[in-house]
Parts: sequence; structure tokens; C-alpha cells
Amino acid sequence: MNKLIFATNNENKVAEIKSIIGDLFNVVSLKDSGIEKDIPEPHETLEENASEKSWTIYNLTGENCFSEDTGLETEALNGEPGVKSARYAGEGRSFTDNIQKLLTLLNGVENRKARFRTVISLIIDGQEHLFSGSCEGHIGLEPKGEKGFGYDPVFIPVGDTRTFAEMSLEDKNIYSHRKKATAQLLSFLSQYGKKMYQ
Ligand code: IMP
Repeated sequence: MNKLIFATNNENKVAEIKSIIGDLFNVVSLKDSGIEKDIPEPHETLEENASEKSWTIYNLTGENCFSEDTGLETEALNGEPGVKSARYAGEGRSFTDNIQKLLTLLNGVENRKARFRTVISLIIDGQEHLFSGSCEGHIGLEPKGEKGFGYDPVFIPVGDTRTFAEMSLEDKNIYSHRKKATAQLLSFLSQYGKKMYQ
């Protein structure tokens, strides 16, 4: 099966993407590739961060790989936390701290509209291709649910009343930003594979 390194140290993301890609490709995490590297996300856009992560791993290994960068963008906070989603409450703080900061800033705010946006950068045979997906929703008044990760306990997608953290992975994938971006990645890869073997 074709190997694809997923340039992330986030095992939750690996599980989500594997559940979407299935057996079509052998998605291998950095850890399973024996690569111990903390990849910086120094840029102001998801696109630049995703690109930097995948080129870092491609230049290191010479193997086909992809990375993704995701941000939660809230309308009333002018798109924050956005690219700062992972360290919103400060470097080294927990998901609970990040959620708490978001809820505090939105305290008493009526407009709770938000969306998740994912950008995937794929590098295959030395060429980069970008894909994206988003999921519209709103921020709940308090954290609910134990599943998922990150901001899942406070994000409720349009079309449902549950937070992502109250859903099975299967249900999260009905709405998810990562699912939409990965579907584009998959469709590209299957076309690419067909061309290669013609
Ligand atoms: P990253 O920079 O792409 O790793 O993601 C930034 C932060 O966004 C992560 O640390 C998580 O807190 C959050 N995040 C990314 N994807 C999701 C998701 O699917 N649900 C909830 N939070 C997420």
C-alpha cells in the first residue's frame, strides 16, 4: 500500500484522518516513522503553517507526506483564536485553559458564530498541493462531552445540537472541517494514482 507520512505529533488527528482514508493509503505518523521533531507554526496563516510543516518533513525524508493546520475562527472575536488556536491561553497551557479563555472573552456576547477551518498541504513527488475544508457552527455556553480533543467540548456544528465532544468520531465526520479537507485530498490522490499507473 502507498505510504504517506502525516507530519503531525497529534495522535487524535492521526486517528481522525486514518478513519477517513481507510485502507487506501498507509498513513504513518511522525512517531511511527521514527521522527522526533517538534515542527514550528510561526506564520500568520493556516496555509503557510501547513506548508512549512510538510516541506520540513519532505526535506528531511524525501518521502511523500502531508500536514494539516486547523484554526477555530469566531466571528465576534475577529477570527480569533485562528492560527493561535493551539496556544491561545499562552505557550504550554492546556486545552482547558484555551477553552476557558475563549468562554471568558465571549461572556455576555450574543454572536457566538464560529467555524473550524483546516488546510492540508500534500507534497507528492516534490510538488505541493493545498486542500481546505471548513465547518460552520457556534460556541456553546459551557464545555460538554468527553470525546474528541481541543475545542470540541464547546463547538456545536450547524445542523446538530451536540458539541463535537458529545459525538462519536463517525458523527463528527458528518460535519467536520478535517473530513471535508481530507475528502479533497483523497479524491486528488485517487486521480493521481490512476494517472501514475496508466
Ligand atoms: P493545529 O495547530 O492544527 O495543531 O491546531 C490548533 C489547535 O486547534 C489544536 O491544538 C486544537 O486545540 C484545535 N483543534 C484542531 N482541530 C480541532 C478539532 O477538530 N476539534 C477541536 N479542536 C481542534
